[in-house]
Amino acid sequence: MLSVVPSPVVVRAPAKINLHLGVGDLRPDGYHELETVFQAVSLTDRVRLSPSDTRSITVTGPGGAADRALASVPLDGGNLAWKAVDAVRDHVGESHGEVSVDIAKGIPVAGGMAGGSADAAAVLVGLNRLWRLDLEREELATIAAGLGSDVPFSVQGGTALGTGRGESLTRVLSRGAFHWVIAVAAGELSTPEVYRELDTLRAAERAEPLRRAGAPDAVLTALAAGDPKRLAEALVNDLQPAALSMRPALRRTLRAGVEAGALAGIVSGSGPTCVFLCADDEHAVRVAAELSGAGVARAVRTATGPVAGARVVDDEKTG
Ligand code: C5P
Repeated sequence: MLSVVPSPVVVRAPAKINLHLGVGDLRPDGYHELETVFQAVSLTDRVRLSPSDTRSITVTGPGGAADRALASVPLDGGNLAWKAVDAVRDHVGESHGEVSVDIAKGIPVAGGMAGGSADAAAVLVGLNRLWRLDLEREELATIAAGLGSDVPFSVQGGTALGTGRGESLTRVLSRGAFHWVIAVAAGELSTPEVYRELDTLRAAERAEPLRRAGAPDAVLTALAAGDPKRLAEALVNDLQPAALSMRPALRRTLRAGVEAGALAGIVSGSGPTCVFLCADDEHAVRVAAELSGAGVARAVRTATGPVAGARVVDDEKTG
C-alpha cells in the first residue's frame, strides 16, 4: 500500500485590538459580562503543525529562540496551543497521532492582544486541515469558546461585537482599513489580575465613580463610516484604569503617542501593550518613528485592521 506522509500545515493567526471594551459585573462563574468590539490586526503569529511521534511545542520570537520576552511561555500543557490539540482530539473522539507545534511569535506575549488565543486558534484551524476533519466554522467556534474567551474571535477575525464573556460574536460592518501604531511594553500583565484590580477599584469608588463604557454605538458608527477621526474619539477600554493602576508608567506611553501626533491612544485589552490610531499609512509610519525615539516602549510596530482570522497559508516561505 502506498503510504502518504502528510506534510506540515502552516497557519497565520492575528492579534486583536478591543476598540470598545465595556466590562460589566463579575458573574458567579468568575468571568465578567462584556460588551466589546474586536478588530483583528496585521500583527500575526505563524504556527507550523507537523505530524510527530511525540507532542512538542517550540516558540521563537522576533529576537530568535533566546528572546527574553518568550521566557514565560509554557512549552507543555500550560500552553493554550497544547490544550487546543487535546480539545480537537476530544471533540472528534479519535486519535490522529501527535503533532509538533512550532510557533513564531509576532504578537507580544501576555500583552493584551490575544497572542495565546491566536496560537490556539491556529491549532484548531491547522489540525482541521492536517487531520482532514472537515469541521464547520461553528464547530471550531464551539471548541474555541471552551479554550478561552478570545479564541473564537481569533478564529473568525475581521471586526466583531463580542458579548457574554467575549466568546459570543456578531460580525460588524467596517469600511476600509484602519492604521495603528503598536507600542509593545517591556514585561507582561496577567489578565485575571487586571480584571481583579478593576473590581477592587470599582469597590473602592465613592465620590468619583469610574466611567463605564456604555453601549458601543459610537464605535460601530465610526467603523461603518470608515472614519478614523470619529473612531479615535469613540475608543474606550474599561480595563484601562486597572492596567494604569498596576503600571503607572503606561500613562507616559499614552501621552507620548498623542504627542507624537496619533489621533488617540488606548491600552489594548488588559495591557500592557498600548495602541494608537492614525489617519493613514503615512501618518502611522511618522508616529511610529517619533514614538520609537521617545523611549517609552520595548518595540514599536505599525499594523492595519481589519484582517482575516486564523488561516492556513499554502506557501510556507511567504506565510
Ligand atoms: O477566557 P480566558 O481564559 O481568556 O480568561 C482569562 C481570565 O480573564 C479569566 O479567568 C478571568 O479572570 C478574566 N476574564 C474575565 N471576564 C471575561 C474574560 C476574562 O473576568 N469576560
